[in-house]
Amino acid sequence: ELGEHRHYMHKEIFEQPQSVIDTLEGRITQESVLTSAFGHQAETLFASISQIQIIACGTSYHAGMVAKYWFEDIIGLPCFIEVASEYRYRNPVLLSDTLFVTISQSGETADTLAALQQIKQKRDVKNLNCPTLSICNVPESSLTRESDLVFLTHAGPEVGVASTKAFTTQLVALSLLLTTLGKVQGRLTQKRERIIVQGLQKLPGLIRNALNHEDEIKEIAKRFADKSSALFLGRGTMYPIAMEAALKLKEISYIHAEAYPAGELKHGPLALIDEYMPVIAIAPHDDLLEKLKSNLQEVRARGGQMIVFEDENANTDSEGGMKVVKATTNVGRITAPITFNIPLQLLAYHVALIKGTDVDQPRNLAKSVTVE
Ligand code: F6R
Repeated sequence: ELGEHRHYMHKEIFEQPQSVIDTLEGRITQESVLTSAFGHQAETLFASISQIQIIACGTSYHAGMVAKYWFEDIIGLPCFIEVASEYRYRNPVLLSDTLFVTISQSGETADTLAALQQIKQKRDVKNLNCPTLSICNVPESSLTRESDLVFLTHAGPEVGVASTKAFTTQLVALSLLLTTLGKVQGRLTQKRERIIVQGLQKLPGLIRNALNHEDEIKEIAKRFADKSSALFLGRGTMYPIAMEAALKLKEISYIHAEAYPAGELKHGPLALIDEYMPVIAIAPHDDLLEKLKSNLQEVRARGGQMIVFEDENANTDSEGGMKVVKATTNVGRITAPITFNIPLQLLAYHVALIKGTDVDQPRNLAKSVTVE
């Protein structure tokens, strides 16, 4: 089953170009997204909503966080996101015309399922227009049975406890949701839709190119052999990607890792920086690059060990002193976060190999969290 791979996680990281192809299959044409991808009711239900509430846990929550940036920035639709274990217990107020989106690889996560059940109950008592959509990797799961609309990610079975290919396909699913909602509501021009679809078609190739950096990342992983903590920085959609990278590193290598939006550095975490602290930054060539660069200078001035994942055009290290990985050529708003995540998965994997942990079965964790 594992073929040339030592672990399922490694196999699943390398399956990602195919997982993306499978998730797009039958959902797009050359130039557009098929509204039917979300089922026959989707067009009517999507036309009536004025905001989105996403609920998920762990890695699936990070996919939702990326989507929040997309929904508000690209189609101007308000989007809220919360972890299920908080949402379900705080007695949230339901507003009519909200699309509730649950995201889950397994479809069996207890808190996510309970949040969905609670939403349906409140909605029915008050007779509110609150359609529910689940984005899920398991067709016959509790979550898909309970939702009005279902979008299946076609990542294939994910065996490694640390989620990799499921996350990537969740992001693909959310980009299709963005495009469909934008289209149905007249918030997206045909031209923009075409650009998004063309970007998605390039994604398998972009991921393959990112995977080609494995040897370089293996070298960088050696720097973590004697480390017990790390800091990940990003801005915009790269902030949730930094959170996901920190989660991967902590769950499989047991290194304490934190992610911060780079602008928050001087509000506290800068105090942690010394010459022993590895700081990993994600630096796409976008509107926030100059701001990020000055954050990185703040870290460097305090002796922090900087590792930067950037794209071809970013040139973060004009003054030297940082370890730079040219992770991708891509700067698309949708494809960039999906692509930048790939080398960070490889980093977590290779650090875990060096630490000698049980990569596919990390201590204390279960693949499917069916208890709260
Ligand atoms: C992290 C990881 C977990 C899951 C979380 C939600 O690598 O796998 O954080 O993402 O337990 O699981 P699902 O997506 O099945 O609801």
